Amino acid sequence: MNRVPLPKTSPLPEPASALAELNPAPRLLMGPGPINADPRVLRAMGTPLIGQFDPQFRLMMRETMALFREVFATRNDWTLVADGTARAAIEMVMQSAIEPGDRVLVGSFGRFGQLLEEIARRCGAEVHIVQAEWGTVLDLAQFEAALKACSPKLVAVCQGDTSTTMMQPLEGLGELCHRHGALLQVDATATCGGAPLPADAWSVDAVTAGLQKCLGGPSGASPLTLSDAMARRIYHRRHIERGLQPADYLPGAGARIASNYMDLAMVMDYWSDAGLNHHTEATTMLYAARECGRIAVQEGLWAMFERHARVSRAVLAGVRAMGLEVYGDPAHKMPNVTGVRVPEGISADKVRQALLNDFNVEIGTSFGPLHGKVWRLGAMGYNARPDAVYTTLAALEAVLAAEGHRLPRGAGVDAAYASFKSVAPAA
Ligand SMILES: Cc1ncc(COP(=O)(O)O)c(C=O)c1O
Repeated sequence: MNRVPLPKTSPLPEPASALAELNPAPRLLMGPGPINADPRVLRAMGTPLIGQFDPQFRLMMRETMALFREVFATRNDWTLVADGTARAAIEMVMQSAIEPGDRVLVGSFGRFGQLLEEIARRCGAEVHIVQAEWGTVLDLAQFEAALKACSPKLVAVCQGDTSTTMMQPLEGLGELCHRHGALLQVDATATCGGAPLPADAWSVDAVTAGLQKCLGGPSGASPLTLSDAMARRIYHRRHIERGLQPADYLPGAGARIASNYMDLAMVMDYWSDAGLNHHTEATTMLYAARECGRIAVQEGLWAMFERHARVSRAVLAGVRAMGLEVYGDPAHKMPNVTGVRVPEGISADKVRQALLNDFNVEIGTSFGPLHGKVWRLGAMGYNARPDAVYTTLAALEAVLAAEGHRLPRGAGVDAAYASFKSVAPAA
């Protein structure tokens, strides 16, 4: 008998509430993501639905593959968009690449490293961890020692761990993993489009992302790319469900992937010319992903990285001028999220509530040991703009002052403004 009580749900709103039109207050989402989606993406999502095997839709899928090859700076054939939020793509790769008992090394420096560990364990892996203290990152020597110690088949690491706002340097890690016989999987949910991660040049075997951060879309579709070696490892486990097997079906020799939905071999068959009817496409999300890819390619990846870097400098200048302390190693801060230590005597959650209720500005709280101690200010994707930064800093200043915290008035916005003005935007 299960002794764990079911979770509580409070009484539902009156039917009249459910029948009212959706009309939320216009929030400015300046947390660690999701952010306000670019209006272009929202418009693309209003495109009429068509069938997933309509030749027009198949063309859109191939266009999306082409756009995300640019975003991931790769020539990988297997560059596609998974249905589901970012963890679906992470899990698809892990479920499909890890066979029970495989050794997996996770580079962990925050809560999302813990997520990689958690997913790998659920895939039946023997998981080894190379751990950095929160607020710092790992160096290659630590990875090398861990690779030597456990000889994993797969190494998994976040590029940006949104929980600590730290960004792991990845150049050289792919080659190092390959020298030790491991493939490298990188969770770039929080950094894709905000910081360089050239999959081919850095020899990364799987990169997964989400739309809801630097790419300026909503959550719900997850671009990913697989190196040839990773694609082969996964396709070696190809086992098409009985009701869908084609006449010329050739199963792989590897063990069947435990999850049907997360079976990337079948998803590859869906995206291939064969067009396996694996799942009902989230057509609207494909439109969103395609538009995010189009925005990135039209702006230019390097211009996009530079826009996020400029915003990061301005946020840093602003919070420091307000006399607030930045969390973590500034040399390894993600460009799109900034951790700010909550001043002594201030309630982190009360400030967040006031920002939301009085200014319509949402900022992030933190997880685990950092909860109540660190706020996370995000400025990414469509919101990586000067005006969004000024609004957020001004609102934070007003709320902190109202809470009795002494700080130099106007200094935050002035410093951010000066920071933006000191570097001319790219022509
Ligand atoms: C670094 C990182 N990885 C994974 C995830 C999980 O993504 P999702 O919530 O879209 O499944 C997040 C979400 O914030 C994240 O920041």
